[in-house]
Amino acid sequence: MTTLTASRAWSALQEHHAEVKDVHLRELFARDSERGTRFAVEAAGLYADFSKQRVTSRTLELLFSLAAERSLGARIDSMFKGERINLTEDRAVLHVALRAPAGRTIAVDGTNVVPQVHEVLGRMSAFADQVRTGGWKGFTGKRIKNVVNVGIGGSDLGPVMAYEALRHFTPRELTFRFVSNVDSTDLAEATADLDPAETLFIIASKTFTTQETMMNASSARAWCLSKLKDPAAVAKHFVAVSTNEAEVKKFGIDPANMFGFWDWVGGRYSMDSAIGLSTMLALGPQGFRDLLAGFHAMDEHFRSTPFERNLPVLMGLIGVWNSDFLGASTVAVLPYDQYLKRFPAYLQQLTMESNGKRVTLGGLDVQVGTGAIYWGEPGTNGQHSFYQLIHQGTRLVPCDFIGFAKALNPLGNHHDVLMANLFAQGEALAFGKPPEQVRAEKVPEQLVPHKTFPGNRPSTTILADTLDPKTLGALVALYEHAVYTQSVIWDINAFDQWGVELGKVLAKRIGAELEPAEPKLEHDSSTNALIKRYRSRR
Ligand code: F6P
Repeated sequence: MTTLTASRAWSALQEHHAEVKDVHLRELFARDSERGTRFAVEAAGLYADFSKQRVTSRTLELLFSLAAERSLGARIDSMFKGERINLTEDRAVLHVALRAPAGRTIAVDGTNVVPQVHEVLGRMSAFADQVRTGGWKGFTGKRIKNVVNVGIGGSDLGPVMAYEALRHFTPRELTFRFVSNVDSTDLAEATADLDPAETLFIIASKTFTTQETMMNASSARAWCLSKLKDPAAVAKHFVAVSTNEAEVKKFGIDPANMFGFWDWVGGRYSMDSAIGLSTMLALGPQGFRDLLAGFHAMDEHFRSTPFERNLPVLMGLIGVWNSDFLGASTVAVLPYDQYLKRFPAYLQQLTMESNGKRVTLGGLDVQVGTGAIYWGEPGTNGQHSFYQLIHQGTRLVPCDFIGFAKALNPLGNHHDVLMANLFAQGEALAFGKPPEQVRAEKVPEQLVPHKTFPGNRPSTTILADTLDPKTLGALVALYEHAVYTQSVIWDINAFDQWGVELGKVLAKRIGAELEPAEPKLEHDSSTNALIKRYRSRR
């Protein structure tokens, strides 16, 4: 394959960019009265309006040519067929199999994995029903009232995001907590008001070797046994979610209480595998299946819809345009729904651990900017914090607004006010307020520059009817597939994460050096001095 920047489609996009770079969104809307709906696409219950992105029909045509040149269609097929597209780890990438209906065939090395997926889903459902109905008792015979998920990264962010997002649909008599940080405060605060006799721990770790999770799991066991005394209590208060049965056994959890998944599920793509056990406990088996149905609807759309109407493809390609042609290095994710407060954090791992790469699949330098920096806060809170920079700062910050037609907790006209703010922000960013308009309001001349809004700041607005399990599944799958689309354009591996290794190794080495007795430090002078200061003051 030719390198990205040497490709014909890339050069065409560069020429096109030179022609359109100064065209304002005001002009694009003035030229085309239908723009607001022409650039909108609907799929799997999500309506996405791309009209406020700085693209023309020609931009999209050229981006589709780029996608064709980079064989995006074939690369999508390779993923759905279970090929080993995660080259650096020699693994298939099949999160789509986790939500495939029973009866589908998706093979890895000649074995259909869909029956295995449904077998685990069946076991998870039986377990969830038992806990939710009180059939599963703690060691002393008490009913389980608290569920604590212990995991980190993909084994935490998906579960906590989904729990918060779908809390409306969860029984309030069950308390859910999520412990991820090796900072003991996390576990201490999560358990401070809980009774071990009523608490179930889910130890969620793909590898079951992650330092933070294993340390938290051991401390959780000690906390539990400090009251229940008998090690036999572990069987009633600890279950595991992992691919590593040997380590689960070593920890002392009976494999009968382990829910498995497979090496073809990446950590950040695992919230709909057994890693979602806490989600199933919170929603019930049917709610979890609704979530999977939403994921699957978006999978089908991604796999089979022409690029022109393909929501994840459009989102991914426009992201490439914003990043590599308009020079935006970030994306603000702004959900106008309080339940989605952890959604930006979830997307940070999904997008940045996936596409934060600087070499191609073949090991060459990528010559363009890759993975944008994702961040955000629920609206309207962000409006009173960082929106100033997005409206009038010197940096371009493309925004994803996410909103819902129906309120889950209707109260007076709160929801109308919330949504009015969402619509207003997209409008203000796109159209701004030119100086003439400011002057027409008789603003003193010296304040005119301060009160001018340049506009031309791109955003996408995603609207759905209700934030329910199905919608959440579709929303997450939208971002998953947009991430893959971008990785194909950049020719990078979205499914490995070697960049997290070095810090882990150094932390182990330093961990052994924190005892004051340790004589010799052989780091750089800064690290040596910091360790010495810590040793003397700890
Ligand atoms: O941060 C690196 C990472 O490997 C993530 O990709 C993963 O989600 C997380 O650690 C947790 O890993 P595990 O589920 O194996 O504990």
